[in-house]
Amino acid sequence: MPNPTLDLLLARRSVSANSLTEPGPSAAELELILRAASRVPDHKKLVPWRFILFQGAARAELGKVLAQVCAAEEKDPGAFRLENEAKRFLRAPLVIAVISRVVKNPAAPEWEQILSAGAACQNLSVAATALGYGVQWITEWCAYSDGVRRALRLAENERVAVWDVTWIQGQQIPRRQQSRDAVVIFLKGGVIRQSPEGAAVSDTRRNVGDVLFVPAGTDLPSEEATQGPPRAVFIELK
Ligand SMILES: Cc1cc2nc3c(=O)[nH]c(=O)nc-3n(C[C@H](O)[C@H](O)[C@H](O)COP(=O)(O)O)c2cc1C
Repeated sequence: MPNPTLDLLLARRSVSANSLTEPGPSAAELELILRAASRVPDHKKLVPWRFILFQGAARAELGKVLAQVCAAEEKDPGAFRLENEAKRFLRAPLVIAVISRVVKNPAAPEWEQILSAGAACQNLSVAATALGYGVQWITEWCAYSDGVRRALRLAENERVAVWDVTWIQGQQIPRRQQSRDAVVIFLKGGVIRQSPEGAAVSDTRRNVGDVLFVPAGTDLPSEEATQGPPRAVFIELK
């Protein structure tokens, strides 16, 4: 009996990053890929992962950072190695960093949260493959480098962490607990539908320039845009 899902899973192969070419996914396709990546088993709905996208000039900017970090962290890497590091993220039109983000929860141990992040990686790969794109999981040295972690603002000791959040129409955004006081600045207006667990659904209108203070400990509920998409920058205060 023909089964396109099984056919896809059985035929899936990685495509070496060195053989990836333009074009990358369109914005609509990218949204589908990220929605599929987010639709993974997630014990206690902690959303223990997030995505950072590098496209266009951002890939070269990240390459510069990699070359600088490589020069600082490695003993005498040589000009050829540094040139290659600067070009590392230019191999593919789109690079998605999947960040595993473990939070403390006695009911969902760290291991389960890491498995969920791995599932997000695999759903992402399968969705991109289903749309006809080549894709490869790559870690390399840069996934484990302290310098790169700092450049991506993943370090523990940062003073201000910034997220740019877009509420995509009809899509749930990550639920997470705000561990530090934060200021949220809206860059685009729209209506956000909040659906906290066990509480009534409510719609809130946000306008461009609205500033919101979110105290530490606030549990940000699942939200979805009903008109939009609103966009906001979260600035965590330490
Ligand atoms: C977590 C993880 C990290 C990986 N990192 C790399 C890497 O840095 N470089 C690489 O060439 N392959 C890496 N791979 C392997 C490739 O993604 C791929 O699985 C391998 O080339 C085999 O191809 P296949 O998926 O078609 O079987 C990694 C795989 C996993 C699961």
